[in-house]
Amino acid sequence: MTEDWQSRHAALLEALTASGELPDVWRPTFDAVPRHHFVPDEIWEQRATCVPVTTDAAWWDMVYRDVPIVTQVDEGLRGGPGIATSSNSMPTMVARMLTVLDVADGQRVLEIGTGSGWNAALLAARLGSGNVTTVEVDPVLVEKAAKVIKEAGYSPAVVWGDGARGWESGAPYDRIIATCSVRRIPYAWVRQTRPGGRILAPLAGDFWSGTLVRLDVGGDGVASGRFVGGARFMPIRSERPGPDVPVDSGTGRRGSTGALPAETMAHLGFALYAGAKLPGVVMADGTADGRDQIWLHDRKGSAATVTQGEVWQYGPRQLWEEAVAVHKAYVHDGSPDPGDFGLTVSPGGQRLWLRSPDTALG
Ligand SMILES: C[S@@+](CC[C@H](N)C(=O)[O-])C[C@H]1O[C@@H](n2cnc3c(N)ncnc32)[C@H](O)[C@@H]1O
Repeated sequence: MTEDWQSRHAALLEALTASGELPDVWRPTFDAVPRHHFVPDEIWEQRATCVPVTTDAAWWDMVYRDVPIVTQVDEGLRGGPGIATSSNSMPTMVARMLTVLDVADGQRVLEIGTGSGWNAALLAARLGSGNVTTVEVDPVLVEKAAKVIKEAGYSPAVVWGDGARGWESGAPYDRIIATCSVRRIPYAWVRQTRPGGRILAPLAGDFWSGTLVRLDVGGDGVASGRFVGGARFMPIRSERPGPDVPVDSGTGRRGSTGALPAETMAHLGFALYAGAKLPGVVMADGTADGRDQIWLHDRKGSAATVTQGEVWQYGPRQLWEEAVAVHKAYVHDGSPDPGDFGLTVSPGGQRLWLRSPDTALG
């Protein structure tokens, strides 16, 4: 595919700079590593499902828009349900994460989730290829990424493996960055980061769709830090959700949301709080028939849907009432923002906390 891409590339970087997402320290690197080199011919747009992008014009349009680009569905198998299994992340998110990662010259970085290879090439351009390792679980993707990264002029270690185990032979790293979400930070990542180093990862919960957590690794083998905003990433492969127990629509009960607007459920601070208080309850937001909708379910047959002030509840649990009660406790706790929450990871597991590592939430 050919096209006069320079002006689109420049416009995207200008927009990222203007929005404050691309600081001066990263701009020359983004300039040197244009996105289109890393986007395969076959791509999809993520809407309610993945929609194939079929024309050259639409391809170029997506590549230089600030949107994520789906680069694989159904792990590359034909005839599947069309679930995104790899993507080239949204430029804003790539720039934001690299900024929060806060790298310095000479530092060594491990990336989990090579995907298209763009982020790894950006890191290699900034830190030198010898300082970057990237691990990808999908054997086809890892081969493609290694090829395009090499064609772009970089040679980080591009390795095939399960990133949940980190990549032992390259350790210790100064930084680990994950570009797929995890429900629990694997302790291997803490072990493989040198004391004083940092881990940045999208954390997925049931109730919320994703939050970025930044952990500082201490000399005592414990990593701790705060949440730094929202981040929707596809889950690490071992954590794909299994099938849910179907909801019996015959048990539907209608009610009203009363004083609590449904949008409150999607506030990141509340979502983190409710994730701890209602374990196993899934919250999703989206649109249905053009209207905003919140959907709660517990994967065991109970559910609630909320659309414009109206609630329908199904199954044995009153999930909406439970969520409202947790919201009351959240307000009582001072309606904390996402940055008030933190996470500590030790060999024994991970612990979510509010305001101070001593105040566990759960
Ligand atoms: C959002 S994409 C990564 C985007 C990528 N960093 C880029 O620049 O294009 C997430 C990737 O994580 C990979 N992944 C999922 N589980 C993994 C695992 N256990 N180990 C390593 N990679 C994994 C997926 O195959 C997918 O390619």
